[in-house]
Amino acid sequence: MPARFKTIIEPFRIKTVEPIRWTTREEREDLLRRAHYNLFQLPADAILIDLLTDSGTAAMSTRQWAAMMEGDESYAGSKSFERFHRAVQDIFGYKHVIPTHQGRAAERILFSVMCKKGDVVANNTHFDTTRANIEFLGAEAVDLPICEGKDPADPHPFKGNLDVEALERLIERVGAGRIPLVMLTVTNNSGGGQPVSMENVRAVRAVCKRHAIPLYFDACRFAENAYFIKLREAGYGHKTPKEIAQEMFAQGDGCTMSAKKDGLVNIGGFLCTNDDTLAQQEENLLILTEGYPTYGGLAGRDLEAIAVGLHEALEEEYLRYRIVSTAYLGRHLAELGVPIVQPPGGHAIYIDARAFLPHVPSPCFPGVALACQLYLEGGIRSVEIGRLMFGQHAQMDLVRLAIPRRVYTQSHIDYVVEVIGQVWKQREQIRGLRLTYEAPFLRHFTARLEPI
Ligand SMILES: Cc1ncc(COP(=O)(O)O)c(C=O)c1O
Repeated sequence: MPARFKTIIEPFRIKTVEPIRWTTREEREDLLRRAHYNLFQLPADAILIDLLTDSGTAAMSTRQWAAMMEGDESYAGSKSFERFHRAVQDIFGYKHVIPTHQGRAAERILFSVMCKKGDVVANNTHFDTTRANIEFLGAEAVDLPICEGKDPADPHPFKGNLDVEALERLIERVGAGRIPLVMLTVTNNSGGGQPVSMENVRAVRAVCKRHAIPLYFDACRFAENAYFIKLREAGYGHKTPKEIAQEMFAQGDGCTMSAKKDGLVNIGGFLCTNDDTLAQQEENLLILTEGYPTYGGLAGRDLEAIAVGLHEALEEEYLRYRIVSTAYLGRHLAELGVPIVQPPGGHAIYIDARAFLPHVPSPCFPGVALACQLYLEGGIRSVEIGRLMFGQHAQMDLVRLAIPRRVYTQSHIDYVVEVIGQVWKQREQIRGLRLTYEAPFLRHFTARLEPI
């Protein structure tokens, strides 16, 4: 639509609604205590605005619901798989497409086949499940974000980029033989939802090619990344997000994908590769735990919803609304003086908890403390991405406000801004926390804490 008016509206109208529930402050105090100050442990109906994640929380479209009715639930060779396969190949272009129940299943299979003990995997920033799946195999996950990506205030347009010189140094230090693959996470979730430029993709590809190291994408938010390239990188303004995504994936050898993000579905994922031998090994593993290769742990109807969702996520009207509405939250928080990762990411706004709570040192989990306070004050659930999630590897202590796709309206976001503004005014009273229980890996999901 021509930009005649400056207001960018939600490019949909609402057909089905779901009530949300108010709780009292006393109830929330009690709920927090019983959840051991871990917001993952809260019952969802005790939350007013749930910004825990943008994963699997999207509202599906009428077209997706209609497609689900076409779901072919045949065990093998279903029509739904054909449609899913066609949709994925159209955008991603890889030879083999292996459905999985979600992203981490694709990761587990990929790394089980490609990595062994002592190997090293480089990434702009590994997501928690990616890192955990690599470490579970006894391999090392190395994050190589550019310097600007580690500074929350730096306004670099492609803070998700991988530091190409650092990659060269890593290869020189450990040897290409110990690096079974390099990954690029688009957009870089743990680094603030920041995009990776096409120039960086090409530069990483060139290094990988020189050392015969395969390049894989962690493609969860590929459509948002493509739109950022369109907006910010010279030479891409006239291209469609789909063309940009195709160009990007053509630089790689495969990908893992959680369709719960830019697939606009509530469950699903896939693994792609151009390598016939690897694909065979991956399908064998898939059969062991996920299912037959034409459903991979999903129902036929789920495959249908993904096939439609992947293309809807690339529609320009949708992407414009998506990026602008996330930036709206960021802009209003920044205007209040709240320190956020700049520029705003695609799927989330990240509050810099170290700058918000300078009196709470990192080992006392400033991100968790702030997330708990947002819940206490206004029933908002967010997530810490920092010391609790990544332990010593944490480069920053952030609180992520992830925006579910097509779920909340502008007034919900205005409410969130008001609550955070209130917490900002009272920030000096917020105390840190200490751990009372932690699991051996992915501890943030089940950790128990108490106020200091
Ligand atoms: C960048 C990234 N990679 C991988 C995953 C894992 O996907 P899933 O939750 O579907 O297992 C996520 C999920 O949030 C993610 O953000």
